[in-house]
Amino acid sequence: MAFSSSTRVILVSLLLAFSLTSLTFARPNVRAQDDDLIGEVCSKTRNPSFCVQALKSDPPSGGADLRGLGQISIDLAQASATATSSLIDSLIKQTNDPKLRERYKSCSENYSDSIGDLGEAKGFLNSGDYGSVNIRASAALDGADTCDGGFAGPPAEPAELKQANQKLEDLCSIILVISNRLA
Ligand SMILES: *[C@@H]1O[C@H](CO)[C@@H](O)[C@H](O)[C@H]1NC(C)=O
Repeated sequence: MAFSSSTRVILVSLLLAFSLTSLTFARPNVRAQDDDLIGEVCSKTRNPSFCVQALKSDPPSGGADLRGLGQISIDLAQASATATSSLIDSLIKQTNDPKLRERYKSCSENYSDSIGDLGEAKGFLNSGDYGSVNIRASAALDGADTCDGGFAGPPAEPAELKQANQKLEDLCSIILVISNRLA
């Protein structure tokens, strides 16, 4: 079957119009509202771009309300603190430098405290005690900050540990903003 050239132009235009329309409406409005909530929360954290990336990388954050985002950020912080605690254990095993060893051991204690604090924060979020969520998240952040602060003079903090400390502080900062808003 042959189309005249004008019919072809009309068909192509219709197809184009249809695909543009479906592109425009592919994202339901609900998602746009989530983006607003994530953007609003993240703008108040210590690392907004990291915050947006972290919350959006988690598939269940689609449709999550403030409390759901609190849950997600606590989960992310727990996973991060646990991974860093393992990193610190391996750093302890790898070094012969007594000064580094001592610093890593302090970090290890700080991180086990932080992991405990985050576990408690999760319980308080579930029971709706948002003030206590805030206090525990702040203590967990202090643990990473104290670990990082232990490397004021040489020997230098390994880049991997420095990055991990920053990451936990960034994640705890999200929990702080959310628990403040929920309180
Ligand atoms: C971190 O660990 C060291 C060594 O146990 C301790 O002196 C310090 O108080 C801890 N800091 C925090 C915030 O837990």
